[in-house]
Amino acid sequence: MRTFAFYFLFIFLIFYITMTGNITFTMIKPDAVKNGHIGAILKMITDAGFRIVAMKFTRMSVAKASKFYEIHKEQPFYDKLIEFMTSGPIVAAVLEKENAVEDFRKLVGTTNPDNAEEGTIRKLYATSTRENAVHGSDSDENALHEGSFHFATSEWFDKDGNCMG
Ligand code: CMP
Repeated sequence: MRTFAFYFLFIFLIFYITMTGNITFTMIKPDAVKNGHIGAILKMITDAGFRIVAMKFTRMSVAKASKFYEIHKEQPFYDKLIEFMTSGPIVAAVLEKENAVEDFRKLVGTTNPDNAEEGTIRKLYATSTRENAVHGSDSDENALHEGSFHFATSEWFDKDGNCMG
């Protein structure tokens, strides 16, 4: 049963997103971690003006990855996607910037790196459509959902360094 605290924190996060509208969620995926690109990718992200609100180095369980990618359950690539995303550690982060979702997707590039623009993270570091180095939320709503999926509000920090939980 969901507690009062859960709903309070959820409403607080919705309020935060509504006030700012400027949150996105990212993962540096197992391929990019394995290939040693964490530092370079984080530098691209911060150089582009994104502030890190929450961040962790972790490895997703099959159960967690299956839940996260539930929306793709019927896709032919689903099983291999879960296998890939649980094959090693990831860096998960909530990022803040004006127009975060759209600007981050521009920085990331297209799902298939062959079609990605020069200078994008996927053009530089992705190796295939599946092993495409980074994830970026596709809407404000999903940014909130995905950020909350990976982080408790006690792990979110505002620009003054204050815990938001
Ligand atoms: P992302 O957009 O971060 O989240 C869904 C993921 O599914 C996507 O990155 C890829 O890793 C993977 N994906 C999407 N489309 C395909 C595809 N056609 N073939 C293989 N993997 C895919």
